[in-house]
Amino acid sequence: MKLWGGRFTKPTNQLVEEYTASIGFDKKLAEEDIRGSLAHVRMLGKCGILPMEDVQAIEKGLLIVRERIRSGQAEFSVALEDIHMNIEKMLTDEIGPVGGKLHTGRSRNDQVSIDMHLYVRAHTVEMVQGLTELRQALVEKAEEHIDTILPGYTHLQRAQPVRFAHHLLAYVDMFGRDVERLIDSYKRVNTMPLGSGAIAGTTFPIDREMVAEELGFDRMYDNSMDAVSDRDFLVEFLNHASLIMMHLSRLSEELILWSSEEFGYIELDDAFCTGSSMMPQKKNPDVPELIRGKTGRVMGHWVALMTTLKALPLTYNKDMQEDKEGVFDTVETLTGALALTVPMIREMKVKADVMKRNAEKGFTNATDLADYLVTKGVPFRQAHEIVGRLVLHCIGEGKGLLDLTLEELQSFSPEIDVDIFDKLQVESVADARNTRGGTSKKQICHVLDKKKGEINETFAWIRSVKV
Ligand code: ARG
Repeated sequence: MKLWGGRFTKPTNQLVEEYTASIGFDKKLAEEDIRGSLAHVRMLGKCGILPMEDVQAIEKGLLIVRERIRSGQAEFSVALEDIHMNIEKMLTDEIGPVGGKLHTGRSRNDQVSIDMHLYVRAHTVEMVQGLTELRQALVEKAEEHIDTILPGYTHLQRAQPVRFAHHLLAYVDMFGRDVERLIDSYKRVNTMPLGSGAIAGTTFPIDREMVAEELGFDRMYDNSMDAVSDRDFLVEFLNHASLIMMHLSRLSEELILWSSEEFGYIELDDAFCTGSSMMPQKKNPDVPELIRGKTGRVMGHWVALMTTLKALPLTYNKDMQEDKEGVFDTVETLTGALALTVPMIREMKVKADVMKRNAEKGFTNATDLADYLVTKGVPFRQAHEIVGRLVLHCIGEGKGLLDLTLEELQSFSPEIDVDIFDKLQVESVADARNTRGGTSKKQICHVLDKKKGEINETFAWIRSVKV
């Protein structure tokens, strides 16, 4: 009773059936599969390949099967291998042998590809949406914290004071690149493979344009062999997802660090933390830790698919069935990570006073004293040396640069004047960096506006595309 049983003299070995079946996971593609079949059968009718009454019977049957699957009443069979054959069997059970006409001019090779294209297209848009909501949350937090100063770090050592808005806006741009990449890949995802048959096209006078139009594909594959063997669009998706997870893991890591007692820069909302079964005092940042942890599996899916595809001859090979689970798992992992990061950012409490106190320690204004001396005509190299000695002196005394008197400062360099005390305040230090992309208030306000514009543009893009 196999759909391809004609050529066989024996039933399939039980282990083979179980080993080769994909229904356990590709049942996730039921909606996409039926959507593709509906478009295909309508086209077969329109092109006169199937009589209209057959088309209507098949359409009706497909809708019934879809309803049964949606309501969870459908039973899938491993003997029927995959979602495509399971649905075809359910269809013929429902409407009789005429259901067998659905597969005219089509192969599972172009069918599985269109299913994955539809699936990834929807999730590409969903990821863009999730990322844009995250960018929006970060922009809103940034707006609240234009005047919050914290130490910026290099080597995780205090470097220069930055506005917290500036730090958050760095992430807005990282996720902005992710959005750009996804939007760029959309055009390749939105390319229609159907009509390629098993490998070389089909003998029936099909109308691929009609199917593409109905399913909202902007273009189609020009080469049937490429169409049935291409999985680049999945590799790209996994690649983008890996980058997004890597970005989320960096943000997560900062949330974890910042919420530690040692930093004390933020407090994550109770609703997003968990406790310890033994230590009553604990409030653990499990969510960002798990996002950080799950980054590995998404990157692993990318490596796995690349390795599967490497050196595969054209065209379809069963190896390619391995393309699905990693993609499904990636969608699930990423959706969860984005859905949790957005409220975590929105709800986190920022301890501006602690940030500022730390920004004022650690000589984060040392560069500014050197730059000050340069404006007084001291060569930068010499200024660097003078400030280095000043810092050493302060460390010995347990003081900061601003704790020294003018006389003390002048004993290191007579060029130093009383205006230095203003210039070395953390706010002044931040605002002195008024070059494009710098951390001055003026620059940040400008960038905030720009980012809001980008976010609106992305939402407009989302509204304009087919899913
Ligand atoms: N379950 C298969 C897959 O996911 C569908 C395509 C099967 N095609 C074939 N010629 N066996 O790759």
